[in-house]
Amino acid sequence: MKDSVNVHNKDYELGGQINERSASKFTFRTRGFLALILTCSLLSFFTFRRPTLEALNVSPTDGLKDACPQAAPISPSFHKDLHGDLEEEYATDEFRLKAYESLGGAVRIPTEAYDDLKPPGQDPRWKIFDKFHAYLEETFPLVHTTLRKTTVNSYALVYHWQGTDPSLKPILLTAHQDVVPVDPHTLDQWLQPPYSGFYDGKWIWGRGSCDDKPGLIGSITAVESLIAKGFKPKRSVVLAYGIDEERGGISGGPAIRDHLLSTYGAYAFSILIDEGGDLDVRDDVVIASPAVAEKGHFDLRLVVSTLGGHSSVPPVHTSIGILAGLIVQLEDNPHTPHLNRNDTYYTNLQCQAAFDPDLSDELRTAIQWSLTSDWALKDLESQLFESDPRLRAIGSTTQAVDLISGGVKVNALPEEATAVVNHRVAGWSSVSALKTRIVEVLLPTVKKYNLSLDAFGEEIGDDFLTAAGQLTLSDAFGTALEPAPITATSHNAAYEFLSGTIIAVEKSSAKGSRADVPVVVAPGILIGNTDTRYYWNVTENIFRYGHVDRYAKYNGAHTVNEALLAEAFIELIRFFTVVILNADETNLL
Ligand SMILES: *[C@@H]1O[C@H](CO)[C@@H](O)[C@H](O)[C@H]1NC(C)=O
Ligand SMILES: *[C@@H]1O[C@H](CO)[C@@H](O)[C@H](O)[C@H]1NC(C)=O
Ligand SMILES: *[C@@H]1O[C@H](CO)[C@@H](O)[C@H](O)[C@H]1NC(C)=O
Ligand SMILES: [Zn+2]
Repeated sequence: MKDSVNVHNKDYELGGQINERSASKFTFRTRGFLALILTCSLLSFFTFRRPTLEALNVSPTDGLKDACPQAAPISPSFHKDLHGDLEEEYATDEFRLKAYESLGGAVRIPTEAYDDLKPPGQDPRWKIFDKFHAYLEETFPLVHTTLRKTTVNSYALVYHWQGTDPSLKPILLTAHQDVVPVDPHTLDQWLQPPYSGFYDGKWIWGRGSCDDKPGLIGSITAVESLIAKGFKPKRSVVLAYGIDEERGGISGGPAIRDHLLSTYGAYAFSILIDEGGDLDVRDDVVIASPAVAEKGHFDLRLVVSTLGGHSSVPPVHTSIGILAGLIVQLEDNPHTPHLNRNDTYYTNLQCQAAFDPDLSDELRTAIQWSLTSDWALKDLESQLFESDPRLRAIGSTTQAVDLISGGVKVNALPEEATAVVNHRVAGWSSVSALKTRIVEVLLPTVKKYNLSLDAFGEEIGDDFLTAAGQLTLSDAFGTALEPAPITATSHNAAYEFLSGTIIAVEKSSAKGSRADVPVVVAPGILIGNTDTRYYWNVTENIFRYGHVDRYAKYNGAHTVNEALLAEAFIELIRFFTVVILNADETNLL
């Protein structure tokens, strides 16, 4: 997944789990004296005489479970015997070692996606994907003789497995072939060489072992195994594997989308499952977080242009000084987080409050009260977002000044200074609202420096000839992305289908005695993006979810020592198998 970093650093955001630190610190803090005087009496009541749960005489989860309804487990029934056979096979050492080697072999082919890759056919660095395709053909012979393979934009792969009943909408399983390049400077930090694909008896090592070769090899292994057992689907199954997700998917995503739309039509798929959320497995609860939302993305370029000249007769502010003033103005005005009841994150909070035993009673009560009280909602909002920058990043648009350049020579005035600010757009906001706000925030500074302003193609303010300089604002790379449409979770049969499948697969897992541990599904939101950014009108039911324990990732993705717990890979294959079998007999899709 792009922008998902080290899980242990918690940059990888799914459900927005409230960590213990912020949960235990969570209190209705005493307000400043002035604020107390100014605020209504309800606040002081709430602050100082907050009743206990017992006094309220409510169950800690009253109302909450309704806000986070759970599906019943769904296991293959018509395909029960076939499923049983496969479960037995997946438990054998023979199958396991072969599966580990399939993933290891895929990791050994370094399909690195560089930011500056030219389109396929115009850049020799794509050649490695030929080797990867040959590997897939050799490793999954039944898939290649049974499914119809289409190669789009040279290297993206779409496999079609025809079902016998064309009236059933096909399912779509997606993943990406590419990996983040390994930084040569980090080689000495890897415990195993980054492209070893080495299985050490517990872990499978190497770049791509978590992101996203398990998604690809796991789904194709499930199909290969089903074919080997003679399974013929009623409902068509489509696999689609992108080629450059890690640099924004620009070569693979649109090509796959166009192929899917022209072959199947708009909204022709019943469900799409891509990488994304995961399983938080704890002693007392398992929380699966399929992401149903993704934040938007906007890279703002600011260019300050001024007259050049010799630096012996400088103006008070050079373009670099002015740019610095604009950046300070932006950073002095951070975006405000919001919590709305219709946010995905709010639903996730209800689920945590209803089912996570580790949550403090205080926080649970606050979440519960917020269901009906607007005041409690506001208080919850400020407490959550003030306590944890990670949560704040979910609740707001974020800005980060990431690039800066200007000036070429120490005795020449810089004619141009440039900065690029990366934004992740909150689910409740939009790119256009963000642009409007940027102009509003910068306008006083623009006036202060007597600049003319070209804001996204629109001239605002003074004429350039009389102004001290010009500020030009633009979409830096033309990659603006609105927040993704949210996949419905309430009254959505596809969500019920996925939830029921996740619960059944996890409940029947051999990885430990899970029979008594509740398995809960809570919708999540991604703060980064996946290839699904291109697939919005392929289906209304987009889920970003890999059935992998969060702690089965040795060191997360995109960093050194990427490694996957081998057994977790088997769980993923079990999951894809049940998705396909359940989809074949369900009436929920
Ligand atoms: C699909 O969505 C894209 C934008 O993401 C849009 O340009 C295109 O017209 C849509 N196509 C259909 C068939 O809805
Ligand atoms: C979500 O709730 C907010 C606040 O009540 C409201 O402004 C917004 O329009 C709602 N969005 C949707 C999509 O219903
Ligand atoms: C902006 O222009 C005004 C009027 O021409 C002038 O007084 C002021 O000094 C200028 N400010 C800057 C920062 O150039
Ligand atoms: Zn990925």
